[in-house]
Amino acid sequence: MWRGVSSIVLLTAVVGLAGCELPPDDALARELAASRGRSLGTAIEAYHTTGGPDTDLVAREFDVVTPENAMKWAVIHPQRDVYDFTDADTIVDFAETNGQRVRGHTLVWHSQNPSWLRADLGRAELLDILREHVTTLVGRYRGRVEAWDVVNEAIDDTGQLRNTVWLEGIGTDYIEWAFRFAREADPTARLFYNDYLIERGGPKADAVHALLADLRSRDVPVDGIGYQMHALVPALMPATKDIVTEFERFTALGLDIEITELDVAIILPSDESELLDQADAYARAAMACLSVDRCRTIVTWGFTDADSWIDAHFPGFGDGLLFDRNRQPKVAYLRWRLVFWWNLHLE
Ligand code: XIL
Repeated sequence: MWRGVSSIVLLTAVVGLAGCELPPDDALARELAASRGRSLGTAIEAYHTTGGPDTDLVAREFDVVTPENAMKWAVIHPQRDVYDFTDADTIVDFAETNGQRVRGHTLVWHSQNPSWLRADLGRAELLDILREHVTTLVGRYRGRVEAWDVVNEAIDDTGQLRNTVWLEGIGTDYIEWAFRFAREADPTARLFYNDYLIERGGPKADAVHALLADLRSRDVPVDGIGYQMHALVPALMPATKDIVTEFERFTALGLDIEITELDVAIILPSDESELLDQADAYARAAMACLSVDRCRTIVTWGFTDADSWIDAHFPGFGDGLLFDRNRQPKVAYLRWRLVFWWNLHLE
């Protein structure tokens, strides 16, 4: 409660001191972010593109879309010799129609893989499969998917390389091969390593840093780091300055930063003070991004509380997004408008 109140007091003080006006009522968060050189995005499914209020909302509010599931192995490459591009094509076409950029997600992961993908296929076979998959996907959307999450979540929560079908079947070099295959298939796409819970430092962030430093030092083509930033009220969003400290040790490696899967879950039912804390968490993420020149894109993992992975994966949690169940902007959205309007960031 007090945190929510004090941040309102702080905002009021800022308005008072700076004598700033409020943003025009009809200015979208996206437009205000654009005036600061930032793009806002959301994860979507193909069913969001077929018309109706969700379609209108996505087209209106976002510059970037990420297919939430449509490009994952189990969906797009369900059998060894079968690809199904239906949903991915739908999303990429939709984005182009609406002048939006696409983040491709994801080429190599331990989860949502088809059952035919097994470590016992052996190194040579798995490398062939990886090359063929990456070349096929990245090649198909060459020039149309602007950034790829090439490798997702390769480090586990203790800071070790995660034991996956790739690590077990190929060995540690699966990571660099994935980036090389992707670069070859589309030299213009920016290539990302993507992971969660690395915005507050600690052993996992250190391990990701060591991994990316090593890849960069050997000219493996990795261009950026994606911070998923799945957060939770009240615990899991660090202070802006701590996020910036993390961002800066990665930009020092020559990497771009993107926030790729932002959401801020609340224990249901959410109340007003939790929604204020949530707005605070969204503001911290945005202010951190505004504070670092190489952070240019913020993507939320969905857009309305009616339709989010949180409810299915974390029973009892939800209400983590910018729009409520009736597609109305929440206080988090309104706070974003203020952050971008005032360009609130750390000097
Ligand atoms: C989630 C999707 O949102 C769900 O619909 C699906 O059932 C499981 O995956 N990190 C990631 C995303 O990189 O791909 C995950 O997406 C959420 C966590």
